[in-house]
Amino acid sequence: MDFAELVKIRQSVRKYSNKPVEPEKIIQCIEAARLAPSACNSQPWRVVIVNDPELKEKVARETYGSVVQFNKFVHTAPVILVLVMEKPNISAALGSKIKDMDYAHIDLGIAAEHICLQAAELGLGTCILGWFNEQPIKELLNIPKNKKIGLLISLGYPENTEIRKKVRRPLEEVYSFNKY
Ligand SMILES: Cc1cc2nc3c(=O)[nH]c(=O)nc-3n(C[C@H](O)[C@H](O)[C@H](O)COP(=O)(O)O)c2cc1C
Repeated sequence: MDFAELVKIRQSVRKYSNKPVEPEKIIQCIEAARLAPSACNSQPWRVVIVNDPELKEKVARETYGSVVQFNKFVHTAPVILVLVMEKPNISAALGSKIKDMDYAHIDLGIAAEHICLQAAELGLGTCILGWFNEQPIKELLNIPKNKKIGLLISLGYPENTEIRKKVRRPLEEVYSFNKY
């Protein structure tokens, strides 16, 4: 599959089939993240793969609350990836301070997208999740108190393989040559 096609078929999947995901495919997604670029090659993240069914249910339960419930679909995913922020190396940390740029979150986001693209190529569906209850998930997964969870990604075989039309701003609105 060429890259432009891969970008088109990657979409947020919010309903998964109950087919389990092969561990080697999960690892292939993590490998794609490992090869992602990062500021000063700092690689400031680590992934906790949650595929134990009981534990996965408990983590899924912490992606929504009593009012905001749009992530309830996460229960249908057989796997949840928890992307934990790790300490950046000294160059990246200094650079972030001097330039007032949050390189670590940018790095984690790039890694997340590498995971999603690799998954799509393998016929898997993903949804990046920025809405979750951080503290209970940290407790469930023994994530040290001083660490932050950057993002979650639900992962599994899509229930429906139809590719939706992308809803995006028009191309002319998102770029210009040589001036703003
Ligand atoms: C940082 C980030 C956080 C997101 N958080 C959620 C989320 O909590 N729940 C959800 O259903 N989708 C979430 N999404 C998915 C977006 O809604 C989705 O990518 C966007 O609507 C475009 O649709 P597409 O991914 O199908 O192309 C998130 C995406 C990103 C990049």
